[in-house]
Amino acid sequence: DKPNDDFKVADLSLAEFGRKEIQLAEHEMPGLMSLRAEYAETQPLAGARITGSLHMTVQTAVLIETLTSLGAQVRWASCNIFSTQDHAAAAVAVGPNGTPEKPAGVPVFAWKGESLEEYWQCTERALTWPDGGPNLILDDGGDATLLVHKGLEFEKAGAVPAVETAESEEEAEILKLLAASVAADPQKWTNVAAGIKGVTEETTTGVHRLYQLAERGELLFPAINVNDSVTKSKFDNKYGCRHSLIDGINRATDVLIGGKTAVICGYGDVGKGCAESLRGQGARVIVTEIDPINALQAAMDGYQVARLDDVVEQADIFVTATGNFHVITAAHMARMKHQAIVGNIGHFDNEIDMAGLMKIDGISRTNIKPQVDVWEFPDGHTIIVLSEGRLLNLGNATGHPSFVMSNSFANQTIAQIELHTKPAEYPIGVYRLPKVLDEKVARLHLDALGVRLTELSEQQASYLGVPVEGPYKADHYRY
Ligand code: NAI
Repeated sequence: DKPNDDFKVADLSLAEFGRKEIQLAEHEMPGLMSLRAEYAETQPLAGARITGSLHMTVQTAVLIETLTSLGAQVRWASCNIFSTQDHAAAAVAVGPNGTPEKPAGVPVFAWKGESLEEYWQCTERALTWPDGGPNLILDDGGDATLLVHKGLEFEKAGAVPAVETAESEEEAEILKLLAASVAADPQKWTNVAAGIKGVTEETTTGVHRLYQLAERGELLFPAINVNDSVTKSKFDNKYGCRHSLIDGINRATDVLIGGKTAVICGYGDVGKGCAESLRGQGARVIVTEIDPINALQAAMDGYQVARLDDVVEQADIFVTATGNFHVITAAHMARMKHQAIVGNIGHFDNEIDMAGLMKIDGISRTNIKPQVDVWEFPDGHTIIVLSEGRLLNLGNATGHPSFVMSNSFANQTIAQIELHTKPAEYPIGVYRLPKVLDEKVARLHLDALGVRLTELSEQQASYLGVPVEGPYKADHYRY
């Protein structure tokens, strides 16, 4: 027997611990478990070859095994260098019926603390199937989709740009990887792209990228925007961050949050959850916004709304939640209080100008423990930077808890079924799931919380002009 080596994780001996936590999580993920029961016989994902690029956590393990239990074949990478839970990755690689000696699970390429080079190699391996490529992508932030688009673009152009032309370390790694892969097989990405029926995208930032590709006419395959299902962004982004933001700050620093001043940059879904989370601990929260509507919301929710420049010397904790870049600059960080805590919960690490921080003359960095660094400025004052400016809730803690991820991942599973079983209904473009499916995802989570839903009478339904069984709201309703 050739040993199965089609995976790369930190330590297979963690699989038993991972499996135990997966079993606990299954009980907290009623959406995914009821989809498993509903589709056990019909196997709607039979024939699907799904490449996933999404934080390799315990909750994601339950998603992966839901996809396989619906008939899919799956390969996986994480979408962040720090977010993998190594015991979850090991359990997925070993599989429910394998052993560390004889792994029989899903090919997964992910460990906590990858280098950027390793990160892109893992993404490529998840996209490289023994017999070709995937027919579906499940993405979080759009990196798997990006690699396919870039690979195809360079193959068509007949050349990969020189690494020296890259504008960031990240881009340099992509160019390096693509140069090697195109040299080995000049048709690789053409073939991969041709096989893909579509992508389902998890997060705000990845969705932005998809709409930009579609606007430029460059989108290669249909995409379902899972983020903007109500049962995703109004739950995961908000209540998920309300839970995992302080979890990350606490595990990283154990600093008392009560009485401190905290600045949240961005008052979208994520920012709302973050602000509530810190206020719940007794912090005085200041919000920064560029959008008058969100700024007004923050003010009416009782937060001071200010410019970062005006409050940067006063605050103890800074969190970026914008999906934008260079929101906290090196000059801001130079002005912060001694031992101010700086972290980001938006998708990419450029919300905080880490590259600019490193370039300050005379700055020095001391690592305290994994994903916690103290940066000392030439004048002797320091700041504490979490997860090198990457998602702190996944780098310093374990991300969102199972119950909220069950909502997000039920949407993902349904979106994958849509693209796999109804390709004719999704020409190239970006789509949202119909409201009736959004309501279905919510319904799947009511019993577990003891919710007794009121039923409309026929007369009430016709008075409102909605069907008794839903959907209940117009598409423009904002919840
Ligand atoms: P959103 O679009 O609802 O909110 C972002 C807010 O930031 C907007 O209101 C916008 O006006 C504001 N903003 C933009 N530039 C700004 C600036 N320079 N200063 C102050 N405010 C600014 O997006 P959402 O859903 O809240 O997501 C934010 C980020 O978090 C995205 O990158 C998303 O992918 C990521 N995300 C992270 C999660 C996690 O677990 N860490 C979970 C869900 C989303």
